[in-house]
Amino acid sequence: MGRFDFDALAAMAKAGAQREIKELFENDRRFAGFSAQNAGLLLDYSKTHLTQDTRKALLSMMADAGIEAARAMMFAGEAINRTEGRAVLHTALRADATAEIFVQGQDVMPEVRATRARMALMAQDIRSGRYGGQGGAFTDVVNIGIGGSDLGPAMATLALAPYHDGPRCHFVSNVDGAHLADTLQGLDPERTLVIVASKTFTTVETMTNAASARRWMAERVTEPGQQFVALSSAVRKAEDFGIAGARVFGFGDWVGGRYSLWGPIGLSLMVAIGPERFEEMLAGAREMDQHFQNAPLEQNLPVLLALVGLWHHQGMGHATRAVIPYDQRLARLPAYLQQLEMESNGKGVAMDGHGLTQAAAPIVWGEPGTNGQHAFFQLIHQGRQVVPVEFLIAAEGNEPDMAEHQALLVANCLAQSQALMLGRNLAVAREIVAGRFAEDAVEMQARHRVFPGNRPSITLAYDRLTPFRLGQIVALYEHRVFVEGVVCGINSFDQWGVELGKELATALQPMVDGTQDTAGQDGSTAGLIAFLRA
Ligand code: F6P
Repeated sequence: MGRFDFDALAAMAKAGAQREIKELFENDRRFAGFSAQNAGLLLDYSKTHLTQDTRKALLSMMADAGIEAARAMMFAGEAINRTEGRAVLHTALRADATAEIFVQGQDVMPEVRATRARMALMAQDIRSGRYGGQGGAFTDVVNIGIGGSDLGPAMATLALAPYHDGPRCHFVSNVDGAHLADTLQGLDPERTLVIVASKTFTTVETMTNAASARRWMAERVTEPGQQFVALSSAVRKAEDFGIAGARVFGFGDWVGGRYSLWGPIGLSLMVAIGPERFEEMLAGAREMDQHFQNAPLEQNLPVLLALVGLWHHQGMGHATRAVIPYDQRLARLPAYLQQLEMESNGKGVAMDGHGLTQAAAPIVWGEPGTNGQHAFFQLIHQGRQVVPVEFLIAAEGNEPDMAEHQALLVANCLAQSQALMLGRNLAVAREIVAGRFAEDAVEMQARHRVFPGNRPSITLAYDRLTPFRLGQIVALYEHRVFVEGVVCGINSFDQWGVELGKELATALQPMVDGTQDTAGQDGSTAGLIAFLRA
Protein backbone atom coordinates (compact mmCIF):
# COMPACT_ATOMS: atom_id res chain seq x y z
CA MET A 1 0.00 0.00 0.00
CA GLY A 2 1.40 3.37 -0.98
CA ARG A 3 1.50 6.44 1.18
CA PHE A 4 -1.20 8.97 0.43
CA ASP A 5 0.23 12.25 -0.87
CA PHE A 6 -1.32 14.86 1.41
CA ASP A 7 0.77 17.63 -0.14
CA ALA A 8 -0.71 16.84 -3.53
CA LEU A 9 -4.19 16.85 -2.00
CA ALA A 10 -3.58 20.24 -0.36
CA ALA A 11 -2.29 21.69 -3.64
CA MET A 12 -5.36 20.42 -5.49
CA ALA A 13 -7.67 21.78 -2.82
CA LYS A 14 -5.95 25.16 -2.85
CA ALA A 15 -6.45 25.42 -6.59
CA GLY A 16 -10.02 24.16 -6.23
CA ALA A 17 -10.85 26.79 -3.62
CA GLN A 18 -10.24 29.54 -6.20
CA ARG A 19 -13.49 28.56 -7.91
CA GLU A 20 -16.98 29.48 -6.75
CA ILE A 21 -19.11 26.40 -6.06
CA LYS A 22 -22.11 28.00 -7.73
CA GLU A 23 -20.15 28.41 -10.95
CA LEU A 24 -19.71 24.66 -11.10
CA PHE A 25 -23.48 24.45 -11.59
CA GLU A 26 -23.27 26.25 -14.90
CA ASN A 27 -23.11 22.76 -16.28
CA ASP A 28 -26.63 21.58 -15.48
CA ARG A 29 -25.52 17.97 -15.09
CA ARG A 30 -23.64 18.84 -11.92
CA PHE A 31 -26.20 17.31 -9.55
CA ALA A 32 -26.37 14.04 -11.50
CA GLY A 33 -22.60 13.89 -11.75
CA PHE A 34 -21.92 14.69 -8.11
CA SER A 35 -24.52 12.61 -6.34
CA ALA A 36 -24.71 8.88 -5.78
CA GLN A 37 -27.49 6.58 -4.71
CA ASN A 38 -27.76 3.18 -3.22
CA ALA A 39 -30.82 1.30 -2.03
CA GLY A 40 -32.83 4.37 -1.09
CA LEU A 41 -30.00 6.60 0.18
CA LEU A 42 -28.91 9.60 -1.83
CA LEU A 43 -25.63 11.40 -1.23
CA ASP A 44 -25.48 14.85 -2.83
CA TYR A 45 -21.96 16.25 -2.79
CA SER A 46 -22.45 18.69 -5.64
CA LYS A 47 -22.31 21.74 -3.36
CA THR A 48 -18.55 21.33 -2.86
CA HIS A 49 -15.51 22.56 -4.78
CA LEU A 50 -14.85 19.08 -6.17
CA THR A 51 -14.63 18.77 -9.93
CA GLN A 52 -14.45 15.72 -12.14
CA ASP A 53 -10.67 16.07 -12.28
CA THR A 54 -10.12 16.47 -8.55
CA ARG A 55 -12.51 13.63 -7.77
CA LYS A 56 -10.78 11.37 -10.25
CA ALA A 57 -7.34 12.22 -8.88
CA LEU A 58 -8.48 11.72 -5.30
CA LEU A 59 -10.13 8.38 -6.05
CA SER A 60 -6.99 7.17 -7.69
CA MET A 61 -4.84 8.35 -4.76
CA MET A 62 -7.21 6.63 -2.34
CA ALA A 63 -7.05 3.42 -4.36
CA ASP A 64 -3.25 3.64 -4.35
CA ALA A 65 -3.34 4.02 -0.56
CA GLY A 66 -4.77 0.50 -0.49
CA ILE A 67 -8.36 0.96 0.58
CA GLU A 68 -9.57 -2.06 -1.39
CA ALA A 69 -6.97 -4.40 0.05
CA ALA A 70 -7.58 -3.06 3.57
CA ARG A 71 -11.32 -3.51 3.12
CA ALA A 72 -10.82 -7.13 2.07
CA MET A 73 -8.59 -7.75 5.10
CA MET A 74 -11.19 -6.30 7.46
CA PHE A 75 -14.07 -8.36 6.11
CA ALA A 76 -11.87 -11.48 6.07
CA GLY A 77 -11.21 -11.23 9.80
CA GLU A 78 -7.49 -10.47 9.61
CA ALA A 79 -5.94 -8.84 12.67
CA ILE A 80 -5.93 -5.31 11.23
CA ASN A 81 -6.09 -3.80 14.75
CA ARG A 82 -2.35 -4.38 15.02
CA THR A 83 -1.61 -2.61 18.29
CA GLU A 84 -4.05 -4.95 20.04
CA GLY A 85 -3.57 -7.94 17.75
CA ARG A 86 -7.29 -8.19 17.00
CA ALA A 87 -9.55 -8.70 14.03
CA VAL A 88 -12.21 -6.05 13.34
CA LEU A 89 -15.47 -7.82 12.69
CA HIS A 90 -18.45 -5.80 13.80
CA THR A 91 -19.69 -6.72 10.31
CA ALA A 92 -19.96 -10.34 11.49
CA LEU A 93 -22.58 -9.27 14.05
CA ARG A 94 -24.91 -8.35 11.19
CA ALA A 95 -23.84 -10.96 8.65
CA ASP A 96 -26.60 -13.15 7.19
CA ALA A 97 -27.66 -16.51 8.53
CA THR A 98 -25.51 -18.54 6.16
CA ALA A 99 -22.25 -16.58 6.47
CA GLU A 100 -18.99 -18.20 7.54
CA ILE A 101 -16.40 -15.81 8.92
CA PHE A 102 -13.11 -17.09 10.28
CA VAL A 103 -10.91 -15.59 12.97
CA GLN A 104 -7.66 -17.49 13.40
CA GLY A 105 -9.13 -20.48 11.64
CA GLN A 106 -12.35 -20.60 13.63
CA ASP A 107 -15.77 -19.75 12.22
CA VAL A 108 -17.23 -17.14 14.58
CA MET A 109 -20.71 -17.22 13.06
CA PRO A 110 -22.23 -20.15 15.00
CA GLU A 111 -21.51 -18.25 18.23
CA VAL A 112 -22.83 -14.96 16.75
CA ARG A 113 -26.06 -16.66 15.67
CA ALA A 114 -26.50 -18.45 19.00
CA THR A 115 -26.05 -15.18 20.94
CA ARG A 116 -28.44 -13.34 18.63
CA ALA A 117 -31.04 -16.08 19.18
CA ARG A 118 -30.57 -15.88 22.97
CA MET A 119 -30.93 -12.11 22.82
CA ALA A 120 -34.16 -12.45 20.85
CA LEU A 121 -35.57 -14.92 23.36
CA MET A 122 -34.61 -12.64 26.25
CA ALA A 123 -36.11 -9.60 24.52
CA GLN A 124 -39.34 -11.47 23.82
CA ASP A 125 -39.54 -12.72 27.40
CA ILE A 126 -39.07 -9.18 28.72
CA ARG A 127 -41.59 -7.70 26.28
CA SER A 128 -44.21 -10.37 26.98
CA GLY A 129 -43.70 -10.27 30.74
CA ARG A 130 -42.59 -13.92 30.87
CA TYR A 131 -39.42 -12.58 32.46
CA GLY A 132 -40.32 -9.88 34.93
CA GLY A 133 -39.34 -8.42 38.27
CA GLN A 134 -40.54 -9.02 41.79
CA GLY A 135 -43.56 -6.80 41.07
CA GLY A 136 -44.48 -8.24 37.67
CA ALA A 137 -43.67 -7.46 34.02
CA PHE A 138 -40.89 -4.93 33.57
CA THR A 139 -42.15 -1.43 32.85
CA ASP A 140 -38.68 0.12 32.58
CA VAL A 141 -35.25 -0.93 31.38
CA VAL A 142 -32.17 1.00 32.48
CA ASN A 143 -29.06 0.50 30.34
CA ILE A 144 -25.93 1.37 32.31
CA GLY A 145 -22.87 1.81 30.09
CA ILE A 146 -20.64 4.51 28.67
CA GLY A 147 -18.99 5.34 25.34
CA GLY A 148 -19.89 2.70 22.78
CA SER A 149 -21.86 0.80 25.41
CA ASP A 150 -24.21 3.77 25.69
CA LEU A 151 -24.07 5.98 22.61
CA GLY A 152 -25.03 3.30 20.07
CA PRO A 153 -28.15 1.95 21.80
CA ALA A 154 -29.10 5.41 23.13
CA MET A 155 -28.81 7.00 19.69
CA ALA A 156 -30.68 4.17 17.95
CA THR A 157 -33.41 3.89 20.59
CA LEU A 158 -34.23 7.58 20.19
CA ALA A 159 -33.99 7.33 16.39
CA LEU A 160 -36.51 4.50 16.30
CA ALA A 161 -38.95 5.85 18.88
CA PRO A 162 -41.96 5.38 16.55
CA TYR A 163 -41.27 1.65 16.62
CA HIS A 164 -41.22 1.31 20.39
CA ASP A 165 -43.74 -1.16 21.71
CA GLY A 166 -41.76 -2.60 24.60
CA PRO A 167 -40.97 -1.24 28.07
CA ARG A 168 -39.55 2.27 28.43
CA CYS A 169 -35.77 2.39 27.96
CA HIS A 170 -33.43 4.73 29.84
CA PHE A 171 -29.69 5.23 29.47
CA VAL A 172 -27.29 6.10 32.26
CA SER A 173 -23.67 6.75 31.40
CA ASN A 174 -22.12 9.52 33.48
CA VAL A 175 -20.48 8.67 36.81
CA ASP A 176 -22.00 11.93 38.05
CA GLY A 177 -24.54 10.54 40.53
CA ALA A 178 -27.08 13.00 39.16
CA HIS A 179 -27.46 10.91 36.01
CA LEU A 180 -28.42 7.72 37.84
CA ALA A 181 -30.46 9.52 40.51
CA ASP A 182 -32.52 11.49 37.96
CA THR A 183 -33.10 8.38 35.88
CA LEU A 184 -34.20 6.16 38.77
CA GLN A 185 -36.43 8.90 40.15
CA GLY A 186 -39.98 7.65 39.84
CA LEU A 187 -39.08 4.15 38.64
CA ASP A 188 -40.46 1.15 40.48
CA PRO A 189 -37.49 -1.05 41.53
CA GLU A 190 -39.75 -4.09 41.56
CA ARG A 191 -40.55 -3.62 37.87
CA THR A 192 -37.23 -2.29 36.58
CA LEU A 193 -34.61 -4.28 34.70
CA VAL A 194 -31.01 -3.07 34.79
CA ILE A 195 -28.78 -3.91 31.85
CA VAL A 196 -25.09 -3.49 32.64
CA ALA A 197 -23.41 -2.90 29.28
CA SER A 198 -19.63 -3.02 29.41
CA LYS A 199 -17.39 -4.87 27.02
CA THR A 200 -14.62 -5.08 29.62
CA PHE A 201 -16.81 -5.04 32.75
CA THR A 202 -14.13 -2.91 34.41
CA THR A 203 -15.05 0.62 33.31
CA VAL A 204 -15.19 2.54 36.55
CA GLU A 205 -18.17 4.74 35.63
CA THR A 206 -20.29 1.75 34.68
CA MET A 207 -19.24 -0.37 37.63
CA THR A 208 -19.96 2.47 40.05
CA ASN A 209 -23.39 3.12 38.54
CA ALA A 210 -24.19 -0.61 38.45
CA ALA A 211 -23.30 -1.04 42.15
CA SER A 212 -25.44 1.98 43.09
CA ALA A 213 -28.36 0.70 41.00
CA ARG A 214 -28.13 -2.66 42.73
CA ARG A 215 -28.22 -0.94 46.16
CA TRP A 216 -31.27 1.06 45.05
CA MET A 217 -32.99 -2.10 43.95
CA ALA A 218 -31.99 -4.07 47.05
CA GLU A 219 -33.99 -1.66 49.22
CA ARG A 220 -37.18 -3.13 47.80
CA VAL A 221 -36.28 -6.31 45.92
CA THR A 222 -35.30 -9.50 47.73
CA GLU A 223 -33.09 -10.86 44.96
CA PRO A 224 -31.90 -7.82 43.00
CA GLY A 225 -29.41 -9.86 40.95
CA GLN A 226 -32.44 -11.52 39.26
CA GLN A 227 -33.31 -8.15 37.72
CA PHE A 228 -29.88 -7.58 36.21
CA VAL A 229 -28.60 -8.55 32.77
CA ALA A 230 -24.99 -8.10 31.57
CA LEU A 231 -23.67 -7.42 28.08
CA SER A 232 -19.96 -8.10 28.14
CA SER A 233 -17.00 -9.96 26.71
CA ALA A 234 -15.88 -10.54 30.31
CA VAL A 235 -18.50 -13.16 31.17
CA ARG A 236 -16.71 -14.31 34.34
CA LYS A 237 -16.51 -10.77 35.73
CA ALA A 238 -20.24 -10.28 35.13
CA GLU A 239 -20.94 -13.50 37.00
CA ASP A 240 -18.72 -12.31 39.85
CA PHE A 241 -20.89 -9.19 40.03
CA GLY A 242 -23.80 -11.50 40.72
CA ILE A 243 -25.45 -11.86 37.32
CA ALA A 244 -26.17 -15.49 36.44
CA GLY A 245 -24.46 -16.77 33.28
CA ALA A 246 -27.83 -17.32 31.58
CA ARG A 247 -28.34 -13.57 31.64
CA VAL A 248 -24.87 -12.64 30.39
CA PHE A 249 -24.46 -11.98 26.67
CA GLY A 250 -20.87 -12.09 25.49
CA PHE A 251 -19.12 -11.07 22.29
CA GLY A 252 -15.67 -11.49 20.80
CA ASP A 253 -12.71 -9.15 21.31
CA TRP A 254 -12.97 -8.47 17.58
CA VAL A 255 -15.85 -6.05 18.23
CA GLY A 256 -14.72 -2.56 19.26
CA GLY A 257 -16.86 -0.68 21.78
CA ARG A 258 -17.89 2.04 19.33
CA TYR A 259 -18.88 -0.60 16.75
CA SER A 260 -20.86 -2.79 19.12
CA LEU A 261 -24.47 -1.67 18.59
CA TRP A 262 -25.17 -4.65 16.31
CA GLY A 263 -24.70 -7.38 18.90
CA PRO A 264 -25.46 -7.77 22.62
CA ILE A 265 -24.84 -4.07 23.33
CA GLY A 266 -28.01 -3.46 21.27
CA LEU A 267 -30.19 -5.48 23.69
CA SER A 268 -31.98 -2.44 25.17
CA LEU A 269 -32.93 -1.36 21.64
CA MET A 270 -34.10 -4.87 20.83
CA VAL A 271 -36.29 -4.84 23.94
CA ALA A 272 -37.75 -1.47 22.90
CA ILE A 273 -38.54 -2.29 19.26
CA GLY A 274 -38.60 -6.11 19.23
CA PRO A 275 -36.29 -8.64 17.58
CA GLU A 276 -37.89 -8.33 14.14
CA ARG A 277 -37.32 -4.59 13.88
CA PHE A 278 -33.81 -5.09 15.23
CA GLU A 279 -33.22 -7.60 12.43
CA GLU A 280 -34.38 -4.97 9.93
CA MET A 281 -31.72 -2.62 11.27
CA LEU A 282 -29.10 -5.34 10.83
CA ALA A 283 -30.35 -5.92 7.30
CA GLY A 284 -29.85 -2.23 6.50
CA ALA A 285 -26.29 -2.34 7.81
CA ARG A 286 -25.65 -5.57 5.91
CA GLU A 287 -26.88 -3.94 2.72
CA MET A 288 -24.34 -1.16 3.25
CA ASP A 289 -21.60 -3.74 3.91
CA GLN A 290 -22.35 -5.35 0.57
CA HIS A 291 -22.46 -2.02 -1.21
CA PHE A 292 -19.15 -0.99 0.36
CA GLN A 293 -17.54 -4.25 -0.72
CA ASN A 294 -18.92 -4.38 -4.24
CA ALA A 295 -19.71 -0.94 -5.64
CA PRO A 296 -17.07 0.69 -7.84
CA LEU A 297 -15.16 3.35 -5.91
CA GLU A 298 -16.69 6.24 -7.85
CA GLN A 299 -20.19 5.12 -6.83
CA ASN A 300 -19.30 3.77 -3.43
CA LEU A 301 -21.06 5.85 -0.76
CA PRO A 302 -18.59 5.28 2.12
CA VAL A 303 -15.66 5.95 -0.22
CA LEU A 304 -17.28 9.14 -1.53
CA LEU A 305 -18.11 10.32 1.96
CA ALA A 306 -14.49 9.71 2.98
CA LEU A 307 -13.32 11.50 -0.15
CA VAL A 308 -15.37 14.57 0.77
CA GLY A 309 -14.04 14.39 4.33
CA LEU A 310 -10.42 14.23 3.18
CA TRP A 311 -11.00 17.04 0.67
CA HIS A 312 -12.38 19.36 3.31
CA HIS A 313 -10.22 18.46 6.29
CA GLN A 314 -6.77 17.50 5.05
CA GLY A 315 -7.16 19.25 1.68
CA MET A 316 -8.82 22.57 2.43
CA GLY A 317 -7.75 22.58 6.07
CA HIS A 318 -11.21 22.98 7.61
CA ALA A 319 -10.71 21.86 11.19
CA THR A 320 -14.28 20.85 12.00
CA ARG A 321 -17.21 19.12 10.40
CA ALA A 322 -20.80 19.83 11.44
CA VAL A 323 -23.33 17.02 11.21
CA ILE A 324 -26.82 18.49 11.19
CA PRO A 325 -29.67 15.99 11.00
CA TYR A 326 -32.93 17.65 10.02
CA ASP A 327 -34.49 14.73 11.82
CA GLN A 328 -35.12 15.34 15.51
CA ARG A 329 -34.88 11.67 16.37
CA LEU A 330 -31.29 11.68 15.14
CA ALA A 331 -30.46 14.15 17.90
CA ARG A 332 -27.87 11.77 19.35
CA LEU A 333 -26.25 10.99 15.99
CA PRO A 334 -23.66 13.80 16.24
CA ALA A 335 -22.56 12.52 19.67
CA TYR A 336 -22.44 8.98 18.32
CA LEU A 337 -20.34 10.12 15.36
CA GLN A 338 -18.04 12.06 17.66
CA GLN A 339 -16.99 8.83 19.30
CA LEU A 340 -16.97 6.88 16.04
CA GLU A 341 -14.77 9.37 14.22
CA MET A 342 -12.71 11.04 16.92
CA GLU A 343 -11.96 7.93 18.98
CA SER A 344 -11.22 5.94 15.82
CA ASN A 345 -9.17 8.47 13.87
CA GLY A 346 -8.04 10.98 16.49
CA LYS A 347 -4.52 9.57 16.31
CA GLY A 348 -1.08 11.15 16.09
CA VAL A 349 1.01 8.25 14.82
CA ALA A 350 0.79 6.02 11.79
CA MET A 351 0.37 2.26 12.05
CA ASP A 352 4.15 1.85 11.93
CA GLY A 353 4.66 4.27 14.86
CA HIS A 354 5.84 7.25 12.86
CA GLY A 355 4.37 10.64 13.71
CA LEU A 356 1.70 11.92 11.31
CA THR A 357 2.39 15.13 9.46
CA GLN A 358 -1.32 15.96 9.20
CA ALA A 359 -4.36 15.59 11.46
CA ALA A 360 -6.25 12.38 10.75
CA ALA A 361 -9.69 13.31 12.13
CA PRO A 362 -11.68 16.54 12.08
CA ILE A 363 -13.58 17.78 15.10
CA VAL A 364 -17.10 16.46 14.62
CA TRP A 365 -20.00 18.28 16.18
CA GLY A 366 -23.63 19.08 15.55
CA GLU A 367 -27.21 19.39 16.65
CA PRO A 368 -30.50 18.78 14.90
CA GLY A 369 -31.92 21.35 12.48
CA THR A 370 -33.85 23.57 12.62
CA ASN A 371 -32.63 24.20 16.20
CA GLY A 372 -29.07 24.84 15.04
CA GLN A 373 -30.30 27.65 12.80
CA HIS A 374 -31.27 29.62 15.87
CA ALA A 375 -28.00 28.93 17.65
CA PHE A 376 -24.71 28.45 15.77
CA PHE A 377 -25.63 28.87 12.11
CA GLN A 378 -24.77 32.56 12.42
CA LEU A 379 -21.10 31.56 12.59
CA ILE A 380 -21.41 28.99 9.82
CA HIS A 381 -22.85 31.61 7.47
CA GLN A 382 -20.87 34.72 8.39
CA GLY A 383 -17.98 33.69 10.67
CA ARG A 384 -14.48 33.86 9.22
CA GLN A 385 -13.88 30.13 9.59
CA VAL A 386 -15.44 27.70 7.13
CA VAL A 387 -17.34 24.73 8.57
CA PRO A 388 -18.30 22.09 6.00
CA VAL A 389 -21.80 20.92 6.89
CA GLU A 390 -23.25 17.47 6.44
CA PHE A 391 -27.06 17.60 6.35
CA LEU A 392 -29.36 14.61 6.80
CA ILE A 393 -32.97 14.85 5.69
CA ALA A 394 -35.90 12.47 5.26
CA ALA A 395 -38.60 12.97 2.62
CA GLU A 396 -41.25 12.12 5.14
CA GLY A 397 -41.61 11.92 8.88
CA ASN A 398 -43.20 9.22 10.96
CA GLU A 399 -46.11 11.56 11.79
CA PRO A 400 -48.43 11.38 8.76
CA ASP A 401 -50.85 13.93 10.23
CA MET A 402 -48.06 16.52 10.55
CA ALA A 403 -47.06 16.79 6.91
CA GLU A 404 -46.81 20.58 7.06
CA HIS A 405 -44.09 20.24 9.70
CA GLN A 406 -42.09 17.99 7.40
CA ALA A 407 -42.45 20.39 4.46
CA LEU A 408 -41.07 23.19 6.63
CA LEU A 409 -38.26 20.97 7.86
CA VAL A 410 -37.24 19.97 4.32
CA ALA A 411 -37.49 23.55 3.05
CA ASN A 412 -35.28 24.77 5.88
CA CYS A 413 -32.68 22.10 5.29
CA LEU A 414 -32.47 22.87 1.58
CA ALA A 415 -32.47 26.62 2.28
CA GLN A 416 -29.45 26.30 4.54
CA SER A 417 -27.31 24.44 2.03
CA GLN A 418 -28.43 26.85 -0.69
CA ALA A 419 -27.63 29.90 1.44
CA LEU A 420 -24.22 28.48 2.31
CA MET A 421 -23.42 28.03 -1.37
CA LEU A 422 -25.01 31.15 -2.89
CA GLY A 423 -24.51 33.66 -0.11
CA ARG A 424 -25.61 37.25 -0.67
CA ASN A 425 -23.35 39.89 -2.16
CA LEU A 426 -22.97 43.53 -1.20
CA ALA A 427 -24.98 44.84 -4.13
CA VAL A 428 -28.03 42.82 -3.10
CA ALA A 429 -27.50 43.74 0.55
CA ARG A 430 -27.44 47.44 -0.42
CA GLU A 431 -30.76 47.04 -2.24
CA ILE A 432 -32.26 45.42 0.85
CA VAL A 433 -31.29 48.26 3.16
CA ALA A 434 -31.71 51.15 0.73
CA GLY A 435 -34.26 53.64 1.99
CA ARG A 436 -34.50 52.00 5.40
CA PHE A 437 -31.58 53.84 6.95
CA ALA A 438 -30.04 57.29 6.85
CA GLU A 439 -27.75 57.74 3.83
CA ASP A 440 -24.54 57.56 5.89
CA ALA A 441 -25.61 54.30 7.60
CA VAL A 442 -26.63 52.37 4.48
CA GLU A 443 -23.18 51.04 3.65
CA MET A 444 -22.49 49.83 7.18
CA GLN A 445 -25.94 48.21 7.42
CA ALA A 446 -25.49 46.54 4.05
CA ARG A 447 -22.13 45.06 5.01
CA HIS A 448 -23.68 43.33 8.02
CA ARG A 449 -26.12 41.63 5.67
CA VAL A 450 -23.54 40.16 3.32
CA PHE A 451 -23.19 36.38 3.26
CA PRO A 452 -19.88 35.28 1.73
CA GLY A 453 -21.36 32.05 0.34
CA ASN A 454 -19.18 29.55 -1.48
CA ARG A 455 -19.34 27.38 1.65
CA PRO A 456 -19.48 23.64 1.09
CA SER A 457 -22.07 21.20 2.33
CA ILE A 458 -23.28 17.75 1.48
CA THR A 459 -26.72 16.22 1.99
CA LEU A 460 -27.70 12.66 2.79
CA ALA A 461 -31.34 12.17 1.85
CA TYR A 462 -33.65 9.21 2.39
CA ASP A 463 -37.33 8.40 2.39
CA ARG A 464 -38.05 7.89 6.10
CA LEU A 465 -36.10 6.94 9.20
CA THR A 466 -36.90 3.24 9.51
CA PRO A 467 -34.83 0.54 11.25
CA PHE A 468 -33.41 -0.49 7.85
CA ARG A 469 -32.43 3.09 6.96
CA LEU A 470 -30.83 3.65 10.33
CA GLY A 471 -28.74 0.50 9.91
CA GLN A 472 -27.66 1.64 6.46
CA ILE A 473 -26.76 5.15 7.66
CA VAL A 474 -24.75 4.02 10.68
CA ALA A 475 -22.83 1.42 8.65
CA LEU A 476 -22.18 4.09 6.01
CA TYR A 477 -20.45 6.26 8.61
CA GLU A 478 -18.54 3.30 10.06
CA HIS A 479 -17.06 2.50 6.67
CA ARG A 480 -16.35 6.15 5.94
CA VAL A 481 -14.27 6.35 9.12
CA PHE A 482 -12.49 3.15 8.10
CA VAL A 483 -11.60 4.51 4.66
CA GLU A 484 -10.36 7.80 6.10
CA GLY A 485 -8.25 5.85 8.61
CA VAL A 486 -6.69 3.67 5.89
CA VAL A 487 -5.83 6.72 3.80
CA CYS A 488 -4.20 8.34 6.83
CA GLY A 489 -2.29 5.12 7.51
CA ILE A 490 -3.47 4.82 11.10
CA ASN A 491 -5.06 2.16 13.28
CA SER A 492 -8.70 3.24 13.62
CA PHE A 493 -9.49 0.47 16.07
CA ASP A 494 -7.52 1.14 19.23
CA GLN A 495 -8.02 4.02 21.69
CA TRP A 496 -4.88 4.40 23.76
CA GLY A 497 -5.62 8.10 24.09
CA VAL A 498 -8.24 7.45 26.77
CA GLU A 499 -5.87 5.57 29.10
CA LEU A 500 -3.80 8.31 30.71
CA GLY A 501 -6.78 10.19 32.12
CA LYS A 502 -8.17 6.95 33.58
CA GLU A 503 -4.85 6.19 35.31
CA LEU A 504 -4.52 9.67 36.73
CA ALA A 505 -8.13 9.68 37.98
CA THR A 506 -7.43 6.48 39.89
CA ALA A 507 -4.33 8.07 41.42
CA LEU A 508 -6.12 11.33 42.32
CA GLN A 509 -9.22 9.81 43.88
CA PRO A 510 -7.61 9.25 47.36
CA MET A 511 -6.46 12.89 47.35
CA VAL A 512 -9.95 14.05 46.45
CA ASP A 513 -11.54 12.01 49.24
CA GLY A 514 -8.82 13.15 51.66
CA THR A 515 -7.17 9.83 52.45
CA GLN A 516 -3.91 10.93 50.85
CA ASP A 517 -2.15 14.31 50.69
CA THR A 518 -1.32 16.06 47.43
CA ALA A 519 2.46 16.09 47.85
CA GLY A 520 4.16 15.77 44.46
CA GLN A 521 1.15 17.02 42.46
CA ASP A 522 1.46 20.02 40.18
CA GLY A 523 0.41 23.32 41.75
CA SER A 524 -2.80 23.71 39.77
CA THR A 525 -4.10 20.22 40.56
CA ALA A 526 -3.15 20.52 44.23
CA GLY A 527 -4.78 23.98 44.42
CA LEU A 528 -8.01 22.76 42.83
CA ILE A 529 -8.18 19.76 45.16
CA ALA A 530 -7.66 22.03 48.16
CA PHE A 531 -10.43 24.37 46.98
CA LEU A 532 -12.89 21.58 46.20
CA ARG A 533 -12.23 19.84 49.52
CA ALA A 534 -12.58 23.06 51.48
O1 F6P B 1 -12.85 4.80 27.25
C1 F6P B 1 -12.94 4.32 25.99
C2 F6P B 1 -13.77 3.07 25.88
O2 F6P B 1 -12.94 1.96 25.92
C3 F6P B 1 -14.61 3.08 24.62
O3 F6P B 1 -13.90 2.68 23.51
C4 F6P B 1 -15.72 2.19 25.00
O4 F6P B 1 -16.80 2.34 24.13
C5 F6P B 1 -16.00 2.67 26.40
O5 F6P B 1 -14.71 2.96 26.92
C6 F6P B 1 -16.73 1.72 27.29
O6 F6P B 1 -16.02 0.54 27.49
P1 F6P B 1 -16.69 -0.74 28.12
O7 F6P B 1 -17.77 -1.18 27.22
O8 F6P B 1 -15.60 -1.74 28.25
O9 F6P B 1 -17.25 -0.36 29.47
